[in-house]
Amino acid sequence: MTSTRTQVAIVGGGPAGLMLSHLLDRAGVDSVVMDNRAVEEIRTTHRAGILERDSVRLLAETGVYEAGREGVITDGDRHGGIYLRFGGESHHIDFEELVGASVWLYPQTDVFVDLHAARVRDGGDVRYGISGTAVRDLGGDLPRVTYDDAEGVPHEVSADLVVGADGSRSICRDLVAQREPGHRRHFREYPFAWFGILCEAPRSSPELVYARSDRGFALISQRTDSVQRMYFQCDPSEDASSWSDDRIWSELQARLAGSDGFQLKEGRVIERTVLPFRSFVQTPMHSGRLLLAGDAAHTVPPTGAKGLNLALADTRVLAEVVEQALRKDDLEVLASYTQRALARVWKAQHFSYWMTTMLHRAPGEEAHRGFDELRQLGELTSLVSSEAGSTYLAEGYTGWPTA
Ligand code: PHB
Repeated sequence: MTSTRTQVAIVGGGPAGLMLSHLLDRAGVDSVVMDNRAVEEIRTTHRAGILERDSVRLLAETGVYEAGREGVITDGDRHGGIYLRFGGESHHIDFEELVGASVWLYPQTDVFVDLHAARVRDGGDVRYGISGTAVRDLGGDLPRVTYDDAEGVPHEVSADLVVGADGSRSICRDLVAQREPGHRRHFREYPFAWFGILCEAPRSSPELVYARSDRGFALISQRTDSVQRMYFQCDPSEDASSWSDDRIWSELQARLAGSDGFQLKEGRVIERTVLPFRSFVQTPMHSGRLLLAGDAAHTVPPTGAKGLNLALADTRVLAEVVEQALRKDDLEVLASYTQRALARVWKAQHFSYWMTTMLHRAPGEEAHRGFDELRQLGELTSLVSSEAGSTYLAEGYTGWPTA
């Protein structure tokens, strides 16, 4: 058994865990990051690709990048708006004009690679490919995280605080719940999922297209000049591997069809997956010396791409309260974390739910089909024809200022 003493043990080495470790390092606080997955597994798991303005700032202005190489700024694509497509026509929502802000298309896998490289460069203690992770002694002054490394050798990391940044299948979330009899778990399930593809094709549009059609939702996103990311609403039990390229393209074409000359460019499908779709919040987000960040505490549906942005916003607040709590040797400081983080989480929950319901087809609601379709079109028309409506979308999509 090897033992390590650190100030903050971080369970989960995705973007949230790594960003927190990076911010703590800058504040002079030691941490150890631990993850069951191998670096390669995280690096190749495709997730959403949109960064809000403050997420970009957090990456660009806290020393993640070496001078002259600004990752997201030099390699990402700045998008000043999105298209909402319905009734066969696209309507541009101009974020720059409405709220003076942009978002950046920069995939989560790239954010992970950048943060991992920064931690390694700065001598951070990051441990991947481990197993049997457990958090112990949470009732005492010095909790411990124990695990076995890839060779089966047992390790323990003892720390003043433990952060669970361990994703939607979090073990830390259950430990907070066990210790907080008054905890709540808020769920919202949806009767659909997203069918996501990566394909070899040129861009079809300069910015993302969020489309509502009578066949259901579709999203045209991007990755590079020659690889694109697209999604369409499907049944949660859909078997992605049973769809041929032809069937995928005819479904996407049907959902993007229209009279305004928009052309969806096709190509070979190189990856296909069905993505889960739900809203979830656990509160409180901490108990004693254990705190949760990102998907461990909350999940949003992917419409609006808020997941990674919320996780990064959590780490900004967390780094601040953790540094203060350790400096003042006062755990009371941590009490403000849940409240500060949740204010943004619920705004984002509403925003993601609202974009979802505005653009998706609710299966099984046949009695209300005609009403729902025309009501959705009424909502979208009022949104694109009203500055107030469009501004709400622009503000939510580009992200609310950090509290
Ligand atoms: C993506 O590019 O993967 C993406 C973009 C916007 C979303 C969701 C996913 O709302």
